[in-house]
Amino acid sequence: MATRIFAQQLVGRSGEKAMSGRGENRLPLPVVSPYNESYLIMVIKHAADIPSSEITDKKLYLNRREFVRTAAGTVVAAATGVLGSEVLLRAAEPAAHGRKLANVKKSPLSTTEKANTWDEITTYNNFYEFGTDKDSPSILSRNFKTEPWTVAVEGECNKKAVYHLEDILKGQVLEERIYRHRCVEAWSMVIPWVGFPLSDFIKKCEPTSKAKFVEFTTLFDKTQMPGTRLPPALGGLHWPYVEGLRMDEAMNPLAILAVGLYGEVLPNQDGAPFRLVVPWKYGFKSIKSIVKISFVEKQPLNTWQDQAATEYGFYSNVNPEVNHPRWSQATERRIGEFFKRKTLMFNGYGAQVASLYAGMDLKKNF
Ligand code: MTE
Repeated sequence: MATRIFAQQLVGRSGEKAMSGRGENRLPLPVVSPYNESYLIMVIKHAADIPSSEITDKKLYLNRREFVRTAAGTVVAAATGVLGSEVLLRAAEPAAHGRKLANVKKSPLSTTEKANTWDEITTYNNFYEFGTDKDSPSILSRNFKTEPWTVAVEGECNKKAVYHLEDILKGQVLEERIYRHRCVEAWSMVIPWVGFPLSDFIKKCEPTSKAKFVEFTTLFDKTQMPGTRLPPALGGLHWPYVEGLRMDEAMNPLAILAVGLYGEVLPNQDGAPFRLVVPWKYGFKSIKSIVKISFVEKQPLNTWQDQAATEYGFYSNVNPEVNHPRWSQATERRIGEFFKRKTLMFNGYGAQVASLYAGMDLKKNF
């Protein structure tokens, strides 16, 4: 059964040229995308050999779903030899609690909505460097080494250098920012990050007038990140993971560099030790475990746009009116909630960011 599902997944993705379209554009879907989970569910739901009587009990359904996800993972791991056996033998576990961060200030930019729990935020992750299942990062990033950590500052700025993270944080006031987090996969959370404005960091780098965009790069280390061992030919992404912001977006007070969660140092699966958080954009813009920040003239090619340009754009602002080719963005499922809720334009941050896009066609610039 596991083999069959995996085979169908591959055929549906590439062999049979599964098509997607935004307008007239049609492209083969990537083998690996943030959507592989929903794709699997679709395959399972339509499988003729599963009687509908089996699907009525939610508990059973969830167990089967967990089973299938693990089984499919078994085949992927066996076929590619990339993830090793650990992911299959150990269950997702919430991150161990880490060092408390001192002098964290509350921010008026925080939402008052109920935050998701530590357990939810540290077991339901997207961090493809540590596997494509939601629970893989919690299992496979446990031994990820985040100290010492350096960040290279490059490109169009006066302060090009390689900085130790502790030097970047010296004298920096940390704030708690409780933000809505909306993934392009139509799930959401509320996350109490700890961090500081990206604009503070940018000012210290003294960008020149040629700097129009900021490009961020994640660590690429095959020895520590088993997900990066999957070659692009087998559906792996083009590593390292890259993201970018226009300079005025990067300077917006909502954009932060995060180093903590719930008042403690950031757990590995959430992008330790240093990640971007851009709450009005789909989650994939919020790049994790940053090792390089470059000031550039040209718009960077972000990883997901590189993977499938008709599905993922550069801007990626949360927009309930612009659907993804394969599903609606009008609603979302808040992790821990049963009913779907309506998705808000700019994820509810329009008052702070809508002016950045005045006059732009957000259907074209998705
Ligand atoms: N950054 C890197 N380097 N690799 C990734 O796979 N996934 C993105 C983003 N940043 C990703 C990444 C996606 S799709 C989402 S939704 C968020 O991280 C998830 O962040 P979280 O796991 O802390 O909720």
